[in-house]
Amino acid sequence: MKKKTTAFFCQECGYESAKWVGQCPACKAWNSMVEEPVKITPAGSSLSAAAYSGGLSAGLSDAGAGGGGRTLQPVPLSEVGDVSEKRMATGFAELDRVLGGGIVAGSMILVGGDPGIGKSTLLLQAARNLAEAGHSVLYVSGEESLHQIKLRAQRIGSIRDDLKFLCETDLDAIAQTLLAFKPEIVIIDSIQTMYNSSVQAAPGSVSQVRETTGILMRLAKETGITFFIIGHVTKEGTVAGPRVLEHMVDTVLYFEGDRYASYRILRGVKNRFGSTNEIGIFEMRQEGLAEVPNPSEYMLAGRPVGASGSVVTCSMEGTRPVLTEVQALVTKTAYGFAKRQAIGTDYNRVSLLMAVLEKRLNMPLSEYDAYVNLAGGIRQTEPALDLGIALAILSSYRNRPIDDTIIAFGEIGLSGEIRAVSMAEQRVQEAAKMGFKTCILPKSCLKNIKSVGGMQLIGVSGMKEVLDVL
Ligand code: TYD
Ligand code: MG
Repeated sequence: MKKKTTAFFCQECGYESAKWVGQCPACKAWNSMVEEPVKITPAGSSLSAAAYSGGLSAGLSDAGAGGGGRTLQPVPLSEVGDVSEKRMATGFAELDRVLGGGIVAGSMILVGGDPGIGKSTLLLQAARNLAEAGHSVLYVSGEESLHQIKLRAQRIGSIRDDLKFLCETDLDAIAQTLLAFKPEIVIIDSIQTMYNSSVQAAPGSVSQVRETTGILMRLAKETGITFFIIGHVTKEGTVAGPRVLEHMVDTVLYFEGDRYASYRILRGVKNRFGSTNEIGIFEMRQEGLAEVPNPSEYMLAGRPVGASGSVVTCSMEGTRPVLTEVQALVTKTAYGFAKRQAIGTDYNRVSLLMAVLEKRLNMPLSEYDAYVNLAGGIRQTEPALDLGIALAILSSYRNRPIDDTIIAFGEIGLSGEIRAVSMAEQRVQEAAKMGFKTCILPKSCLKNIKSVGGMQLIGVSGMKEVLDVL
């Protein structure tokens, strides 16, 4: 029987199936299966990901079959020599923090994001900073010509000659070049344009993207070159998204933000060398990306004064407290059933909070439409926002503004109780730094907080108490 040479791959998560299916069994995406040739590894090809991963499985099968009679020797960690992890600073404190304190040499970092969000700009600027710090950096672009890169470079300022560029999509040629020149850091822009001739599928397809990443991964581990790989996120279509690669690389960062707002958030999703709950905030300017060292100030800029339905709350982004303004608009519904909308936060959470307010405070909110928005276009879903959202809804419902020196945070339970949240002290300190005078917070958090200069702390344990305080 002739061996099957094609299979169906999910373009979202890379799941492989012998038959076409309407919904991917792994990631549940609809209509994401595309037929692609199965990879045929040419014998003796040194540049193959299969050969690389084969190292591991070969060891296993040897022992299992008892072939060569080779036994492996497990070792305790104490016998493993210490390696001092070398970190390189990218010149962006925000990027370094998301990476866990700089770039680890020999690691592979995937930077994903929507097209046009600023991935090339971010990495070009980081590459420039790294070159300025004396590292040898190579920027490989498969998307833009050298002239286009030069135009972009002119916007972000001077670029030293230590930073070299290459416009190429043929991975074999790139790999040979890397082996010959051995740069410290290589940027691949983007993985979806790279092409390796041992795979029959088109550039951007799941098998092609996987194979090229595997080859680059092997190069990284063998030569100590650090790779930044850019990958476009795709909703659907024929281009494989970065999700396919998440499990292969060391670090996954997503660059996100509203294309129409100028700020951008860099979020760590996976990190073998640090924590993943850090974010970096940038602003897209005329002359490239600039760091936003004080996100609270940025998020609160332009806050309305004395308007009802506006409350400032505090959410943690990793170890950083960020103050955000919650806005709510509550209006009598014109239809039989009330409409709810949440922008920048969880819709179900907003519905739940409205139900709690209705039941526990006897407010006829089911006759009212409610629109809740986190100003500034940021997206946060931490339960600590609950109290801020509830107060904004209350304020708009009663059409009475809440004093703009008040900040509130805390989780609300189904019986209307206010529950403790983590890192209360950091939140209060951030609020004090931004000039807030009063903080409404869960009563059970009070004991963890030393007095913060000039800040009045009001501990509450239920929604009824909150009404009294107001
Ligand atoms: P780009 O880095 O090309 O996005 P990606 O690589 O993620 O596709 O950035 C694209 C957008 O950024 C583009 O719409 C123009 C804007 N931009 C600026 O506003 N200022 C700048 O200095 C640069 C270089 C780009
Ligand atoms: Mg780009």
